Amino acid sequence: MARSFDGTARTADARSTAEFDLVVLGAGSGGYACALRAAQLGLTVGLVEQDKVGGTCLHRGCIPTKAMLHAAEVADSVRTGSEFGIHAAIDKIDLVGVVTYADSVVTRVYKGLSELINSGGITVLQGAGRLTEANGRPAVRVGEETHPASHLVLATGSYPRSLPGVEVDGVKILSSEHALRLDRLPASAIVLGGGVIGVEFASIWRSFGVDVTVLEALPRLVSGEDPSISTALERAFARRKIKVLTDGALATCQANESGVRAELVDGHVLEAELMLVAVGRGPVTADLGYQEAGVDLDDGFVRVNERLETSISGVYAVGDVVRGLQLAHRGFAQGIFVAEEIAHRTGVLDRAPTTIADAQIPRVTYCDPEVASVGLTEDQARTRFGDVETFSYDLAGNGKSRILKTRGFVKLVRQPRGPVVGVHMIGARVSELASEAQLITNWDAFPEDVAALIHPHPTQSEALGEAHLALAGKPLHAHS
Ligand code: NAI
Repeated sequence: MARSFDGTARTADARSTAEFDLVVLGAGSGGYACALRAAQLGLTVGLVEQDKVGGTCLHRGCIPTKAMLHAAEVADSVRTGSEFGIHAAIDKIDLVGVVTYADSVVTRVYKGLSELINSGGITVLQGAGRLTEANGRPAVRVGEETHPASHLVLATGSYPRSLPGVEVDGVKILSSEHALRLDRLPASAIVLGGGVIGVEFASIWRSFGVDVTVLEALPRLVSGEDPSISTALERAFARRKIKVLTDGALATCQANESGVRAELVDGHVLEAELMLVAVGRGPVTADLGYQEAGVDLDDGFVRVNERLETSISGVYAVGDVVRGLQLAHRGFAQGIFVAEEIAHRTGVLDRAPTTIADAQIPRVTYCDPEVASVGLTEDQARTRFGDVETFSYDLAGNGKSRILKTRGFVKLVRQPRGPVVGVHMIGARVSELASEAQLITNWDAFPEDVAALIHPHPTQSEALGEAHLALAGKPLHAHS
């Protein structure tokens, strides 16, 4: 049934005649961003959602996980307080209290988002949508209603993948969504997968006192990052007593009375109270009528051109259903792009929006220590340019990092005598430096350009400034 956002059912007449300029299937980061921008541009928008607007990022992903990571940081601050002259002890870690706190953050953000969508004049079509056609045109079916539209956007997101032979039961073998709803901390945990989700949960649980082992099939953690970052993260995890087994191929895995038993191909056996499966997320594109409607898929992902249009003219896709970085901020950017693209094609906007390159999207992993990067790794730059110049600025030389007692570095990768093409950072709070790093690589800045900018003292952003000063041949607090 078509409902306005406040939940009131619209009249039968209005329902049968309602035709939108744009129908968006899925109200996660990509979908709702697209709907909001399209509505700002004067398009009539139907936003189809079977659950709550906000999607995975708000309800089961970025927001609650980062709230938990903040609670983990609070626990670590208490535990290490005496190093700062503050003597305190942890009475207990109340996981229900942590989840309640995370939920309260989600609730507030959800309320704000709901108000935005409501005041934007967007019609939320509550229910499970399916791509179909009406009178030879693509349309979205929601329950008994069919909504044809001049333009459609597929934004159905992603789900946590598992592995053959690993049965996620939600009790002892968990996905990240289950891990966010635990009401009791395990004494020990195996984290299967040392990618972004794996290292974030390993970090949270370790801060809460859990004995954690990360099992990663590849030779290093966070394998999408520059290898220097993986090495530093593995060392930091070792200092935190998080065990990391790389090159660890899982052979079998079973839940039993006491927990989970995992056997590796090399015969190594791991046992723990529970296991988190974090081996990637797959696109939600099955059984939604996509293929029947003629949308080309590529291993489940929606195939799009660089303007995010699918194989059907006027039907676009944004967010995790499009192969590439599965990041909420990429979804926002793609959603806005598609809204503006449609507005341009329909004559509302004079200029077509600029396409979005995954390579220029900043990436952040919020474990402790944090990892943030943008652009090319050293190896990628070497492959592209033949040769590169690099400089790593150790956070030991940065006053604010010393104050925080964090270790890490800022590594720059520069095209020889050219612009900076990659920035790779590790250390507490480096997520906050990702935006400046992005400006540098996106605007093809030369080290000399950034060296001329003044970074406030004492901040961690000075580490970025210092690294560029050094690469420009005039190091200040660094050895050349
Ligand atoms: P991922 O692709 O980042 O990492 C999965 C890891 O599992 C890889 O390192 C892979 O080698 C490993 N793996 C696969 N099969 C394995 C096996 N049989 N045994 C051991 N290891 C195995 O996927 P992840 O961590 O599940 O995250 C999914 C998506 O969600 C990612 O694209 C990520 O970018 C996104 N995300 C982003 C966040 C952020 O930006 N902070 C936070 C959480 C998720």
